[in-house]
Amino acid sequence: MDLSVEFAGVRLASCLMNAAGALCVTRDELEALGRARSGAIVTKSMTPALRRGNPDPRYHSFPGGSINSMGLPNLGAPAYAALLPDLRRFGKPVIASVAGLSTAEFLEAARAITAVRPDLVEVNLSCPNIPGKPQIGYDVQASRALLRQLREVVTVPMGVKLPPYFDPVHQDATAAMLREAGVAFVSVINSVGNGLVVDPERECAVIKPKGGFGGLGGAMIKPVALANVRAFWKLFGGRMPILGTGGVVSGADVFEHGLCGASAVQVGTALMDEGVGVFERLERELGEILARKGYRSFEDCRGKLREL
Ligand code: DHB
Repeated sequence: MDLSVEFAGVRLASCLMNAAGALCVTRDELEALGRARSGAIVTKSMTPALRRGNPDPRYHSFPGGSINSMGLPNLGAPAYAALLPDLRRFGKPVIASVAGLSTAEFLEAARAITAVRPDLVEVNLSCPNIPGKPQIGYDVQASRALLRQLREVVTVPMGVKLPPYFDPVHQDATAAMLREAGVAFVSVINSVGNGLVVDPERECAVIKPKGGFGGLGGAMIKPVALANVRAFWKLFGGRMPILGTGGVVSGADVFEHGLCGASAVQVGTALMDEGVGVFERLERELGEILARKGYRSFEDCRGKLREL
């Protein structure tokens, strides 16, 4: 089955890749993605300098999903820039996720990584885990101002990673802003921010930072992810490349993202649970579903969701 796709002008041998944050912080993790059947290597969101992140425990996986409050642990943009030539040897696109705790930090990280020309830059407008820092993607004006400045700095195709929206008004306003900003792709969704998972036996939260509040991922967030993929697919008339992220555990989940309009699909919680072997399993399961349904490629199913 042909699972290759064209995404924002970049050829991907497989439509599957890691979600930013999942097993992509260190050199070893990034090289493991290079060797795995991932269609691209997505980096952890990078800030201008190394960050150790929040105190442990900061990630917890449970039967329905996961909760995390990592606090942007990363090697710092200069270290990822230095690593990029080695990552290129795997012959697949590198997508650099860029973040910051201020506009100046976003610009500095973006400048450092753009200098070595990753294939794509994914601007993270949606980290929910920095105490005192709201998710930029929930503030249209702030997002517009930030993207306007990043456009001057980022000279490779630049997309945005958005938080989940729960009202069409917010998707409409965001889409209008993104159209004006001229983004090359949209990645939806980041984790569902500020959930709380409780262990009733120990009578405590399962993660330490922020009193236990953290971003939810995994199976439980799939309907929210699909709704956002679909909403942005429609708002952009099917002409905006969409990276679908959220709740991908099986090949059927990938197929559903494709039907809703995703051109390529990212895997977070399931990658954390299973390791990089997850890509091979998902490829096999997706290939079987597409064949059984009479599709000849993943691209053939894109956006084909029927409305009743
Ligand atoms: C972190 C979590 C996110 O969901 C994100 O988009 C960026 C960073 C984190 O806690 O490290």
